[in-house]
Amino acid sequence: MKKLFKNATVVLPTGSVETSVLIDGAKIVDIDASITSVVDEIVDCTGLHLLPGVIDDQVHFREPGLTHKEDLDHASRACAKGGVTSFLEMPNTIPNTITQSILEEKLATASRSSLVNYGFYIGATEDNVDVLKHATRTPGIKIFIGSSTGNLLVDEQAALEKIFAESTLTICAHCEDESTVRANAAKYADSTDVASHSLVRNHEAALIATKRAIDLADRHNHRFHVLHVSTAQEAELLASASDLITSEVCPHHLFFNVGDYERLGSLVKMNPSIKDQADNVALWDALVAGAIDIVATDHAPHTLDEKQQPYPNCPSGLPAVENSLALMLNQIASGKCTIEEVVKWMCSGPARIWDIKNKGQIKVGFDADLTLVDLKLEQTVLNENQETKCGWTPWHGQSLTGWPVATWVMGHEAFRLVDGVAWFNQSTLGREIEYSH
Ligand code: DOR
Repeated sequence: MKKLFKNATVVLPTGSVETSVLIDGAKIVDIDASITSVVDEIVDCTGLHLLPGVIDDQVHFREPGLTHKEDLDHASRACAKGGVTSFLEMPNTIPNTITQSILEEKLATASRSSLVNYGFYIGATEDNVDVLKHATRTPGIKIFIGSSTGNLLVDEQAALEKIFAESTLTICAHCEDESTVRANAAKYADSTDVASHSLVRNHEAALIATKRAIDLADRHNHRFHVLHVSTAQEAELLASASDLITSEVCPHHLFFNVGDYERLGSLVKMNPSIKDQADNVALWDALVAGAIDIVATDHAPHTLDEKQQPYPNCPSGLPAVENSLALMLNQIASGKCTIEEVVKWMCSGPARIWDIKNKGQIKVGFDADLTLVDLKLEQTVLNENQETKCGWTPWHGQSLTGWPVATWVMGHEAFRLVDGVAWFNQSTLGREIEYSH
Protein backbone atom coordinates (compact mmCIF):
# COMPACT_ATOMS: atom_id res chain seq x y z
CA MET A 1 0.00 0.00 0.00
CA LYS A 2 1.56 3.27 -1.13
CA LYS A 3 0.75 6.58 0.55
CA LEU A 4 1.91 10.02 -0.47
CA PHE A 5 2.13 12.78 2.15
CA LYS A 6 1.86 15.94 0.06
CA ASN A 7 2.61 19.58 0.77
CA ALA A 8 3.87 19.07 4.32
CA THR A 9 6.64 20.97 6.02
CA VAL A 10 8.74 17.87 6.65
CA VAL A 11 11.25 17.90 9.49
CA LEU A 12 14.22 16.10 7.91
CA PRO A 13 17.60 15.42 9.60
CA THR A 14 18.96 18.39 7.61
CA GLY A 15 16.16 20.78 8.56
CA SER A 16 12.57 21.54 7.63
CA VAL A 17 11.50 21.60 3.97
CA GLU A 18 8.25 21.74 2.07
CA THR A 19 8.24 18.46 0.24
CA SER A 20 6.39 15.17 -0.21
CA VAL A 21 7.07 11.81 1.45
CA LEU A 22 6.21 8.50 -0.22
CA ILE A 23 5.77 5.39 1.88
CA ASP A 24 5.33 1.83 0.65
CA GLY A 25 4.00 -0.51 3.31
CA ALA A 26 6.01 0.07 6.47
CA LYS A 27 8.92 1.99 4.86
CA ILE A 28 9.71 5.49 3.66
CA VAL A 29 10.72 5.04 0.00
CA ASP A 30 11.09 8.55 -1.41
CA ILE A 31 11.26 12.18 -0.29
CA ASP A 32 10.81 14.62 -3.11
CA ALA A 33 8.50 17.52 -3.90
CA SER A 34 7.87 16.21 -7.43
CA ILE A 35 6.88 12.58 -6.79
CA THR A 36 4.33 11.51 -9.40
CA SER A 37 3.94 7.78 -8.56
CA VAL A 38 0.52 6.19 -8.61
CA VAL A 39 -0.47 5.70 -4.97
CA ASP A 40 -3.31 4.16 -2.96
CA GLU A 41 -3.81 7.23 -0.79
CA ILE A 42 -2.82 10.88 -0.84
CA VAL A 43 -2.60 12.60 2.55
CA ASP A 44 -2.90 16.35 2.10
CA CYS A 45 -0.66 17.95 4.72
CA THR A 46 -1.05 21.57 3.66
CA GLY A 47 -0.25 23.90 6.56
CA LEU A 48 0.96 21.03 8.75
CA HIS A 49 4.35 19.66 9.86
CA LEU A 50 5.31 16.02 9.34
CA LEU A 51 7.62 14.66 12.05
CA PRO A 52 9.21 11.29 12.72
CA GLY A 53 7.05 9.54 15.33
CA VAL A 54 8.03 10.36 18.91
CA ILE A 55 9.99 7.70 20.83
CA ASP A 56 9.32 7.84 24.59
CA ASP A 57 12.12 5.99 26.34
CA GLN A 58 10.61 5.98 29.81
CA VAL A 59 7.07 4.80 30.48
CA HIS A 60 5.35 2.60 33.07
CA PHE A 61 2.43 0.84 31.36
CA ARG A 62 1.66 -1.47 34.32
CA GLU A 63 1.03 -4.68 32.38
CA PRO A 64 1.24 -7.30 33.78
CA GLY A 65 0.17 -7.05 37.39
CA LEU A 66 -1.06 -3.49 37.83
CA THR A 67 -3.63 -3.25 35.08
CA HIS A 68 -6.19 -1.51 37.29
CA LYS A 69 -3.95 1.59 36.82
CA GLU A 70 -3.06 1.23 33.13
CA ASP A 71 -2.71 -1.39 30.40
CA LEU A 72 -1.12 -1.65 26.98
CA ASP A 73 -4.42 -1.14 25.20
CA HIS A 74 -5.19 2.22 26.86
CA ALA A 75 -1.58 3.36 27.09
CA SER A 76 -0.75 2.63 23.45
CA ARG A 77 -3.85 4.54 22.35
CA ALA A 78 -2.70 7.41 24.56
CA CYS A 79 0.67 7.18 22.79
CA ALA A 80 -0.85 7.30 19.29
CA LYS A 81 -2.97 10.31 20.27
CA GLY A 82 0.09 12.02 21.71
CA GLY A 83 2.19 11.46 18.55
CA VAL A 84 4.26 8.75 20.26
CA THR A 85 4.79 5.84 17.84
CA SER A 86 7.28 3.85 19.94
CA PHE A 87 7.79 3.35 23.67
CA LEU A 88 10.34 1.70 25.94
CA GLU A 89 8.75 0.40 29.11
CA MET A 90 10.18 0.00 32.60
CA PRO A 91 10.58 -3.27 34.53
CA ASN A 92 8.62 -2.46 37.73
CA THR A 93 5.57 -4.42 36.65
CA ILE A 94 4.42 -7.53 38.55
CA PRO A 95 6.30 -9.78 38.17
CA ASN A 96 9.32 -7.50 37.71
CA THR A 97 10.97 -7.83 34.28
CA ILE A 98 14.11 -9.47 35.66
CA THR A 99 14.42 -12.60 33.50
CA GLN A 100 14.57 -13.10 29.74
CA SER A 101 11.37 -15.17 29.81
CA ILE A 102 9.36 -12.48 31.65
CA LEU A 103 10.69 -9.93 29.14
CA GLU A 104 9.57 -12.16 26.26
CA GLU A 105 6.12 -12.61 27.80
CA LYS A 106 5.77 -8.82 27.84
CA LEU A 107 6.82 -8.67 24.18
CA ALA A 108 4.24 -11.35 23.34
CA THR A 109 1.47 -9.48 25.17
CA ALA A 110 2.37 -6.23 23.40
CA SER A 111 2.36 -7.99 20.02
CA ARG A 112 -1.34 -8.73 20.66
CA SER A 113 -2.44 -5.42 22.14
CA SER A 114 -0.18 -2.44 21.43
CA LEU A 115 -1.26 0.04 18.78
CA VAL A 116 2.29 1.46 18.67
CA ASN A 117 5.81 -0.02 18.55
CA TYR A 118 7.16 -1.40 21.80
CA GLY A 119 10.30 -2.35 23.69
CA PHE A 120 10.95 -3.39 27.30
CA TYR A 121 13.94 -2.88 29.58
CA ILE A 122 15.45 -5.69 31.61
CA GLY A 123 15.52 -4.81 35.31
CA ALA A 124 18.59 -5.23 37.51
CA THR A 125 18.49 -6.91 40.91
CA GLU A 126 21.37 -7.48 43.34
CA ASP A 127 21.90 -10.94 41.89
CA ASN A 128 20.69 -11.26 38.27
CA VAL A 129 23.86 -10.12 36.50
CA ASP A 130 23.92 -13.34 34.46
CA VAL A 131 20.50 -12.45 33.05
CA LEU A 132 21.68 -8.89 32.30
CA LYS A 133 24.81 -10.17 30.53
CA HIS A 134 22.83 -12.34 28.13
CA ALA A 135 19.64 -10.30 27.72
CA THR A 136 18.39 -9.86 24.15
CA ARG A 137 15.42 -8.10 22.47
CA THR A 138 15.79 -5.19 24.91
CA PRO A 139 17.11 -1.61 24.66
CA GLY A 140 19.09 -1.93 27.87
CA ILE A 141 19.27 -2.38 31.62
CA LYS A 142 17.28 -0.39 34.17
CA ILE A 143 18.60 0.04 37.70
CA PHE A 144 16.64 1.64 40.52
CA ILE A 145 19.63 3.06 42.44
CA GLY A 146 16.96 4.67 44.60
CA SER A 147 13.69 2.91 45.36
CA SER A 148 10.43 4.09 43.83
CA THR A 149 7.12 2.39 42.99
CA GLY A 150 7.66 -1.36 43.44
CA ASN A 151 10.45 -3.31 45.06
CA LEU A 152 13.33 -3.03 42.58
CA LEU A 153 16.39 -1.55 44.27
CA VAL A 154 20.13 -2.01 43.79
CA ASP A 155 21.88 0.16 46.35
CA GLU A 156 24.78 -2.12 47.42
CA GLN A 157 28.04 -0.78 45.95
CA ALA A 158 29.42 -4.27 45.25
CA ALA A 159 26.31 -5.25 43.27
CA LEU A 160 26.44 -2.02 41.26
CA GLU A 161 30.16 -2.51 40.52
CA LYS A 162 29.44 -6.03 39.26
CA ILE A 163 26.61 -4.91 36.97
CA PHE A 164 28.67 -2.08 35.45
CA ALA A 165 31.74 -4.35 35.13
CA GLU A 166 30.13 -7.44 33.66
CA SER A 167 27.17 -6.32 31.52
CA THR A 168 27.52 -4.68 28.12
CA LEU A 169 24.08 -3.23 27.32
CA THR A 170 23.53 0.48 27.98
CA ILE A 171 22.41 1.06 31.57
CA CYS A 172 19.88 3.64 32.68
CA ALA A 173 19.05 4.43 36.29
CA HIS A 174 16.64 6.09 38.64
CA CYS A 175 19.08 8.24 40.61
CA GLU A 176 17.97 9.24 44.11
CA ASP A 177 20.24 8.31 47.01
CA GLU A 178 18.50 5.77 49.22
CA SER A 179 20.34 6.68 52.46
CA THR A 180 19.63 10.39 52.02
CA VAL A 181 15.96 9.73 51.24
CA ARG A 182 15.58 7.43 54.27
CA ALA A 183 17.24 9.93 56.62
CA ASN A 184 15.03 12.74 55.30
CA ALA A 185 11.92 10.56 55.55
CA ALA A 186 12.69 9.97 59.24
CA LYS A 187 13.09 13.73 59.72
CA TYR A 188 9.68 14.48 58.17
CA ALA A 189 7.97 11.32 59.46
CA ASP A 190 5.16 13.28 61.11
CA SER A 191 4.34 15.39 58.07
CA THR A 192 1.06 14.92 56.24
CA ASP A 193 1.83 17.79 53.84
CA VAL A 194 2.57 16.49 50.33
CA ALA A 195 5.05 19.34 49.82
CA SER A 196 7.32 17.45 52.26
CA HIS A 197 7.95 15.02 49.39
CA SER A 198 10.38 17.52 47.85
CA LEU A 199 12.18 17.85 51.19
CA VAL A 200 12.49 14.07 51.57
CA ARG A 201 13.53 13.48 47.96
CA ASN A 202 15.59 16.64 47.87
CA HIS A 203 18.24 18.12 45.56
CA GLU A 204 21.01 16.42 47.48
CA ALA A 205 19.45 12.95 47.09
CA ALA A 206 19.29 13.36 43.32
CA LEU A 207 22.79 14.81 42.99
CA ILE A 208 24.53 12.19 45.16
CA ALA A 209 23.01 9.29 43.22
CA THR A 210 23.62 10.81 39.78
CA LYS A 211 27.28 11.47 40.72
CA ARG A 212 27.62 7.91 42.00
CA ALA A 213 26.20 6.42 38.78
CA ILE A 214 28.34 8.62 36.51
CA ASP A 215 31.42 7.59 38.50
CA LEU A 216 30.53 3.91 38.03
CA ALA A 217 29.97 4.40 34.29
CA ASP A 218 33.24 6.28 33.80
CA ARG A 219 35.35 3.82 35.77
CA HIS A 220 33.87 0.82 33.96
CA ASN A 221 33.79 2.55 30.56
CA HIS A 222 30.08 1.75 30.35
CA ARG A 223 27.39 3.64 28.38
CA PHE A 224 25.00 5.19 30.88
CA HIS A 225 21.77 7.17 30.62
CA VAL A 226 20.53 9.33 33.51
CA LEU A 227 16.74 9.11 33.71
CA HIS A 228 14.53 12.06 34.68
CA VAL A 229 17.08 14.70 35.73
CA SER A 230 15.35 17.04 38.19
CA THR A 231 17.90 19.53 39.54
CA ALA A 232 20.05 22.41 38.34
CA GLN A 233 23.02 20.75 40.08
CA GLU A 234 22.70 17.56 38.04
CA ALA A 235 22.34 19.63 34.87
CA GLU A 236 25.61 21.38 35.71
CA LEU A 237 27.33 18.04 36.30
CA LEU A 238 26.04 16.71 32.99
CA ALA A 239 27.38 19.70 31.07
CA SER A 240 30.91 18.40 31.60
CA ALA A 241 30.17 14.65 31.66
CA SER A 242 32.08 12.25 29.39
CA ASP A 243 30.76 10.94 26.07
CA LEU A 244 29.62 7.77 27.84
CA ILE A 245 26.86 9.70 29.56
CA THR A 246 23.50 10.81 28.17
CA SER A 247 20.47 12.10 30.04
CA GLU A 248 16.85 13.12 29.84
CA VAL A 249 14.36 15.49 31.41
CA CYS A 250 10.58 15.03 31.82
CA PRO A 251 7.85 17.62 31.14
CA HIS A 252 6.83 17.64 34.83
CA HIS A 253 10.34 18.63 35.90
CA LEU A 254 10.43 21.33 33.23
CA PHE A 255 6.97 22.75 33.90
CA PHE A 256 5.99 22.02 37.53
CA ASN A 257 7.71 23.12 40.73
CA VAL A 258 7.05 23.10 44.49
CA GLY A 259 4.69 26.05 44.02
CA ASP A 260 2.29 23.63 42.29
CA TYR A 261 1.67 21.42 45.35
CA GLU A 262 -0.87 23.90 46.67
CA ARG A 263 -3.00 23.68 43.50
CA LEU A 264 -2.37 20.06 42.49
CA GLY A 265 -1.46 18.27 45.72
CA SER A 266 -0.45 14.65 45.30
CA LEU A 267 -1.18 14.75 41.53
CA VAL A 268 2.35 16.17 41.17
CA LYS A 269 3.95 13.79 43.66
CA MET A 270 6.64 12.13 41.59
CA ASN A 271 9.99 10.41 42.06
CA PRO A 272 12.31 12.24 41.64
CA SER A 273 10.24 14.97 43.23
CA ILE A 274 9.45 18.24 41.50
CA LYS A 275 11.88 20.96 42.62
CA ASP A 276 12.13 24.77 42.48
CA GLN A 277 11.39 27.31 39.78
CA ALA A 278 15.15 27.86 39.42
CA ASP A 279 15.46 24.16 38.56
CA ASN A 280 12.78 24.49 35.84
CA VAL A 281 14.84 27.27 34.27
CA ALA A 282 18.19 25.46 34.60
CA LEU A 283 16.78 22.22 33.17
CA TRP A 284 15.31 24.03 30.19
CA ASP A 285 18.59 25.86 29.57
CA ALA A 286 20.54 22.59 29.84
CA LEU A 287 18.23 20.95 27.32
CA VAL A 288 18.63 23.81 24.86
CA ALA A 289 22.41 23.85 25.41
CA GLY A 290 22.67 20.08 24.80
CA ALA A 291 23.85 19.16 28.31
CA ILE A 292 20.61 17.15 28.60
CA ASP A 293 19.94 15.09 25.48
CA ILE A 294 16.29 14.17 25.32
CA VAL A 295 12.74 14.54 26.68
CA ALA A 296 10.82 11.51 28.01
CA THR A 297 7.70 11.30 30.16
CA ASP A 298 8.14 8.71 32.93
CA HIS A 299 4.38 8.18 32.33
CA ALA A 300 3.45 6.58 35.67
CA PRO A 301 -0.31 6.34 36.16
CA HIS A 302 -2.08 5.56 39.42
CA THR A 303 -5.84 5.70 39.99
CA LEU A 304 -7.30 8.91 41.40
CA ASP A 305 -8.43 6.96 44.49
CA GLU A 306 -4.84 5.89 45.09
CA LYS A 307 -3.53 9.41 44.50
CA GLN A 308 -6.09 10.86 46.90
CA GLN A 309 -4.78 8.91 49.88
CA PRO A 310 -3.18 11.25 52.41
CA TYR A 311 0.58 11.90 52.23
CA PRO A 312 2.83 9.93 52.53
CA ASN A 313 0.68 6.98 51.39
CA CYS A 314 -0.37 8.49 48.05
CA PRO A 315 1.77 6.85 45.37
CA SER A 316 4.28 8.75 43.21
CA GLY A 317 3.71 9.16 39.50
CA LEU A 318 1.63 10.95 36.89
CA PRO A 319 0.45 10.14 33.35
CA ALA A 320 1.92 12.14 30.45
CA VAL A 321 2.34 10.30 27.12
CA GLU A 322 -0.68 11.84 25.47
CA ASN A 323 0.32 15.41 26.25
CA SER A 324 4.13 15.43 26.17
CA LEU A 325 4.54 16.37 22.50
CA ALA A 326 1.86 19.07 22.79
CA LEU A 327 3.58 20.45 25.91
CA MET A 328 6.80 20.77 23.93
CA LEU A 329 5.12 22.14 20.77
CA ASN A 330 3.51 24.75 23.02
CA GLN A 331 7.01 25.98 23.82
CA ILE A 332 7.55 26.65 20.11
CA ALA A 333 4.42 28.79 20.14
CA SER A 334 5.93 30.89 22.92
CA GLY A 335 9.27 31.19 21.08
CA LYS A 336 11.33 29.07 23.49
CA CYS A 337 12.50 26.40 21.01
CA THR A 338 12.17 25.23 17.42
CA ILE A 339 10.40 22.29 15.83
CA GLU A 340 13.81 20.87 14.83
CA GLU A 341 14.88 20.89 18.49
CA VAL A 342 11.71 19.11 19.56
CA VAL A 343 12.40 16.41 16.94
CA LYS A 344 15.99 16.07 18.18
CA TRP A 345 14.83 15.73 21.81
CA MET A 346 11.87 13.42 21.24
CA CYS A 347 12.60 11.42 18.05
CA SER A 348 16.20 11.18 16.77
CA GLY A 349 17.80 11.55 20.22
CA PRO A 350 16.10 8.53 21.85
CA ALA A 351 16.76 6.41 18.72
CA ARG A 352 20.47 7.26 18.92
CA ILE A 353 20.77 6.63 22.67
CA TRP A 354 19.06 3.21 22.53
CA ASP A 355 20.55 2.00 19.19
CA ILE A 356 17.06 1.82 17.70
CA LYS A 357 17.15 0.69 14.09
CA ASN A 358 15.46 2.74 11.35
CA LYS A 359 13.46 5.08 13.54
CA GLY A 360 13.61 8.65 14.79
CA GLN A 361 14.22 10.32 11.41
CA ILE A 362 12.32 10.88 8.19
CA LYS A 363 14.77 9.26 5.83
CA VAL A 364 14.53 6.88 2.83
CA GLY A 365 14.72 3.30 4.10
CA PHE A 366 13.50 4.24 7.59
CA ASP A 367 10.24 3.01 9.10
CA ALA A 368 7.05 4.89 8.24
CA ASP A 369 6.41 6.00 11.84
CA LEU A 370 5.08 9.50 11.28
CA THR A 371 3.33 12.19 13.29
CA LEU A 372 1.47 15.03 11.63
CA VAL A 373 1.21 18.14 13.79
CA ASP A 374 -0.69 21.40 13.57
CA LEU A 375 1.46 24.05 15.22
CA LYS A 376 -1.46 26.50 15.28
CA LEU A 377 -4.10 24.23 16.81
CA GLU A 378 -5.11 25.34 20.30
CA GLN A 379 -6.79 22.79 22.57
CA THR A 380 -7.43 22.51 26.28
CA VAL A 381 -6.20 19.39 28.08
CA LEU A 382 -9.19 17.77 29.80
CA ASN A 383 -9.44 14.79 32.16
CA GLU A 384 -12.49 13.53 30.30
CA ASN A 385 -10.57 13.32 27.00
CA GLN A 386 -7.65 11.27 28.31
CA GLU A 387 -7.09 7.79 26.88
CA THR A 388 -4.91 6.65 29.78
CA LYS A 389 -6.81 4.15 31.91
CA CYS A 390 -6.30 6.24 35.06
CA GLY A 391 -8.47 8.95 33.48
CA TRP A 392 -6.79 12.10 34.78
CA THR A 393 -3.96 14.45 33.93
CA PRO A 394 -2.11 17.05 36.00
CA TRP A 395 -2.44 19.42 33.02
CA HIS A 396 -6.28 19.43 33.16
CA GLY A 397 -7.60 22.84 32.16
CA GLN A 398 -4.39 23.99 30.49
CA SER A 399 -4.61 25.36 26.97
CA LEU A 400 -1.76 24.32 24.66
CA THR A 401 -0.95 25.50 21.15
CA GLY A 402 0.48 22.85 18.78
CA TRP A 403 -0.96 19.32 18.68
CA PRO A 404 -0.55 16.04 16.85
CA VAL A 405 -3.51 15.57 14.47
CA ALA A 406 -2.63 12.15 12.99
CA THR A 407 -0.16 9.34 13.61
CA TRP A 408 1.08 6.47 11.39
CA VAL A 409 2.75 3.40 12.89
CA MET A 410 4.75 1.31 10.40
CA GLY A 411 2.69 2.85 7.60
CA HIS A 412 -0.71 2.23 9.22
CA GLU A 413 -2.75 5.20 10.30
CA ALA A 414 -3.27 4.67 14.05
CA PHE A 415 -4.84 7.97 15.16
CA ARG A 416 -6.52 10.94 13.58
CA LEU A 417 -8.22 13.96 15.09
CA VAL A 418 -11.64 14.24 13.42
CA ASP A 419 -13.56 17.42 14.27
CA GLY A 420 -11.68 17.63 17.56
CA VAL A 421 -12.43 14.00 18.48
CA ALA A 422 -9.80 11.24 18.57
CA TRP A 423 -10.36 8.36 16.11
CA PHE A 424 -8.25 5.21 16.45
CA ASN A 425 -7.62 2.41 14.01
CA GLN A 426 -8.02 -0.55 16.34
CA SER A 427 -7.34 -3.06 13.59
CA THR A 428 -3.60 -2.35 13.40
CA LEU A 429 -0.82 -3.23 15.80
CA GLY A 430 2.66 -1.88 16.43
CA ARG A 431 5.80 -3.98 16.10
CA GLU A 432 8.69 -4.94 18.32
CA ILE A 433 11.45 -2.33 18.18
CA GLU A 434 14.76 -3.58 16.76
CA TYR A 435 18.18 -2.52 18.05
CA SER A 436 21.58 -2.42 16.38
CA HIS A 437 23.34 -3.92 19.41
O1 DOR B 1 7.13 8.74 40.45
C1 DOR B 1 7.49 7.70 39.94
N1 DOR B 1 6.62 6.71 39.70
N2 DOR B 1 8.76 7.55 39.63
C2 DOR B 1 9.26 6.36 39.23
O2 DOR B 1 10.43 6.27 38.96
C3 DOR B 1 8.39 5.18 39.17
C4 DOR B 1 7.01 5.60 38.91
C5 DOR B 1 6.00 4.49 39.05
O3 DOR B 1 6.25 3.40 38.51
O4 DOR B 1 4.95 4.71 39.63
